[in-house]
Amino acid sequence: MEYTVLGKTGEKVSRIGLGAWEFSEAWGLTDYEKAKSVVKRALELGINFFDTAMVYGNGFSEKTLGSALRELGAKRDEIIVSTKIPGEFLNPLDIPRAVEHSVKLLGLGYVDVLLAHWPPCWHNYPTKVYARAMEQLVNVGLVRYLGLSNFPVELVESFRSSLARADVEVFQHRYNLVERWAEAEVIPYAEKHRITVQAWSPIAKGALTGKYTPDNLPQFADVRAREPVFHPENFEKVWRVVQLLKSTGEKYGKTPVQVALNWLITSSPAVVPIPGAKSPAQVEELAGAAGWRLKPEDWAALEEASRGLTISYSVYYVKSGK
Ligand SMILES: NC(=O)c1ccc[n+]([C@@H]2O[C@H](COP(=O)([O-])OP(=O)(O)OC[C@H]3O[C@@H](n4cnc5c(N)ncnc54)[C@H](OP(=O)(O)O)[C@@H]3O)[C@@H](O)[C@H]2O)c1
Repeated sequence: MEYTVLGKTGEKVSRIGLGAWEFSEAWGLTDYEKAKSVVKRALELGINFFDTAMVYGNGFSEKTLGSALRELGAKRDEIIVSTKIPGEFLNPLDIPRAVEHSVKLLGLGYVDVLLAHWPPCWHNYPTKVYARAMEQLVNVGLVRYLGLSNFPVELVESFRSSLARADVEVFQHRYNLVERWAEAEVIPYAEKHRITVQAWSPIAKGALTGKYTPDNLPQFADVRAREPVFHPENFEKVWRVVQLLKSTGEKYGKTPVQVALNWLITSSPAVVPIPGAKSPAQVEELAGAAGWRLKPEDWAALEEASRGLTISYSVYYVKSGK
């Protein structure tokens, strides 16, 4: 496994992490032993950066991930676990309450990285109030580092300026070869300020794997039902990129998934993809995305093929015809 440094912390994290949202009803992996086998393979392959969230299975993902890491004997000071507190909880009452519960569910003593999952949309708590409440958890030792997920840079600046001692070390944004809007401001900002960007849905929820085709679009019973990237109008464009991922991969003896993830880590030193996996075999393939680099010309061909590609997110609404 290849490693990088987490933000400005000096902590060593694997260049490919593992997302644990898959351990939930939403994605369908609710069998503890199966989930544990995924975590086991990840640890064996040197993955030490794990992501979960309070809302994933309403705590099921945190509990499953933490239990698996403990039972597998992961060394506490060699793993970094991020969890996320939902925007609705970002107030002085709920922040300590929810994080104490999260620490209990994880069973790892403390949270390495606490990210605000999304900005508070409905309750309008001032940024400085929840920033300070999150920082206090660092002061008391429940949390080691802070992060922001799905926050625009304007709000990041406001959050950072409200902190006294801690800083933002991690961002988390949707970023993959066919959804590249994080490149506009988030990634340059992260590079400049030495913030690690966890890329979520880094293989576009499976759309970049090559196993789904225009004639074989998934009939998902999971969270991907009505996922815009799989709508035929969008997938037609995605599919052209998948073809290039395949042919590029053949030159390197790599799969489309591995090329898609390698393109992300080649593109920015700040980016650490956190793909989700449902089996040890999937983790193996994901881990094989690190430790090598696309040649500049192959990186550029993929850049060009995906640059102008736009995914429509209103597609199910507009195409419903009602
Ligand atoms: N901050 C946020 O708002 C946010 C939002 C979403 C996700 N996340 C985090 O990001 C993580 C990853 O995102 P994601 O789960 O949405 O999408 P993703 O990682 O792009 O896609 C994961 C899915 O792709 C398929 N897959 C994985 N490895 C594969 C392989 N080697 N070969 C073929 N198929 C493979 C699996 O589904 P199938 O096998 O069923 O196709 C898997 O469930 C989550 O677990 C979560 O931790 C964060």
